[in-house]
Amino acid sequence: MADDLTIRPAAAGEYAIIGDLTADAYVDGGVMAATDPYLARVRDAASRAASGLLLVASAPDGTILGTVTFCEHGSPYAQLTATGETEFRMLAVDPRQRGHGVGAALVGDVVRRSRELGAVRIRLSTGRRMTAAQRLYERLGFRRTPDRDWRPPGAVYPLRTYVFDL
Ligand SMILES: CC(C)(COP(=O)(O)OP(=O)(O)OC[C@H]1O[C@@H](n2cnc3c(N)ncnc32)[C@H](O)[C@@H]1OP(=O)(O)O)[C@@H](O)C(=O)NCCC(=O)NCCS
Repeated sequence: MADDLTIRPAAAGEYAIIGDLTADAYVDGGVMAATDPYLARVRDAASRAASGLLLVASAPDGTILGTVTFCEHGSPYAQLTATGETEFRMLAVDPRQRGHGVGAALVGDVVRRSRELGAVRIRLSTGRRMTAAQRLYERLGFRRTPDRDWRPPGAVYPLRTYVFDL
């Protein structure tokens, strides 16, 4: 399936569907309870589009299969970057479409865009429960950076951070 994907910036008319897909992926993936107040933020794809580059993976018939937000250094959604680094956030794949390489293709597009910008590394944070994502990152060559792990205000557990050297 990954060969048939188009990865492109989201259109404004798609933000609601992307927000729902992201929330579904987080809840279905066991990353977040359906009652978690942070889900409203996860659902807010319009803010991500305003603050970073909201990307989607779409099938040949136009169905949106997954999404990620690409963040350049200095953009509002970048949490970890320094000069020469990029970051991505809220990678999510429609729960019905998992395991076909959509997540890997989205990360691959972030790598490509980062190289085009001349960046030297990509950083990201994941939650303790995002085990499928962590396997994916490690398979793609990301390394853990425990010294950069951090705890958002009010969070019980720290976020796990990774880096990819370009
Ligand atoms: C993490 C997530 C984005 C992965 O998406 P995905 O499209 O299933 O990812 P991929 O298909 O590229 O890789 C996942 C698995 O499918 C396998 N896979 C990859 N390409 C494949 C293919 N062409 N055919 C069959 N299996 C494949 C991989 O080996 C991997 O297996 P593993 O989990 O046992 O290591 C998805 O599980 C998700 O939305 N999770 C919830 C949200 C989340 O945690 N986001 C992270 C934010 S930091």
